[in-house]
Amino acid sequence: MAKILVLNGSPRKHGSTAAMAEEISRGASEQGAEIKSYYLNAMNITGCQSCYACKGESHRCILQDDMQELYDEIAGANGIIFATPVYMWQMTAQLKQVIDRLYPFIKHDYSSYLAPGKKVLLAITQVRPDTSMFHHYFEHMGKNLSFLGFGLYKILIAGGTRKPEDLHKQREIMAEARRMGAWLAE
Ligand SMILES: Cc1cc2nc3c(=O)[nH]c(=O)nc-3n(C[C@H](O)[C@H](O)[C@H](O)COP(=O)(O)O)c2cc1C
Repeated sequence: MAKILVLNGSPRKHGSTAAMAEEISRGASEQGAEIKSYYLNAMNITGCQSCYACKGESHRCILQDDMQELYDEIAGANGIIFATPVYMWQMTAQLKQVIDRLYPFIKHDYSSYLAPGKKVLLAITQVRPDTSMFHHYFEHMGKNLSFLGFGLYKILIAGGTRKPEDLHKQREIMAEARRMGAWLAE
């Protein structure tokens, strides 16, 4: 059974990004996947302190906060949904802190400690209707995650979302979210 991890970087627990992540999760669980969701905004996660302890013998992060739980979850997951609203043309700070803290997964030779074959889905919502606007930024993020040792990535962006109902009305995006969930669970 595939294990899917949701890392939601939106501060709105029941906002549009959560609604998109739920639809993707539905698609994955329909294929028999096990889903575990984290609401990053409520977690105690510090920014990387650049101490380079993770580049020592243990190759572990020494910051004892909630990221320690996420390291284990990420290592054990088959698929990871990085979910975020667009904030100032980028991901939210809550998610960026987590991405920076993935540094322990990189070895000195830039290969990865992560087991190969993990799938990544970037689940994005934004108020601007033109979903091509920030696509290049999320491509860049996907490439960075591949470099870190995550496998294939896909990007799903919904536009015009001030509130979850704006997403629910977009039937094609909702259907695509379900299909993406199924892809993660394959
Ligand atoms: C501080 C802030 C910055 C934002 N920046 C952008 C932006 O650059 N482009 C955009 O299209 N929407 C922007 N938005 C709108 C949100 O991305 C959009 O409404 C999103 O769907 C909200 O998701 P949520 O309900 O999960 O919070 C911004 C919202 C906030 C609060």
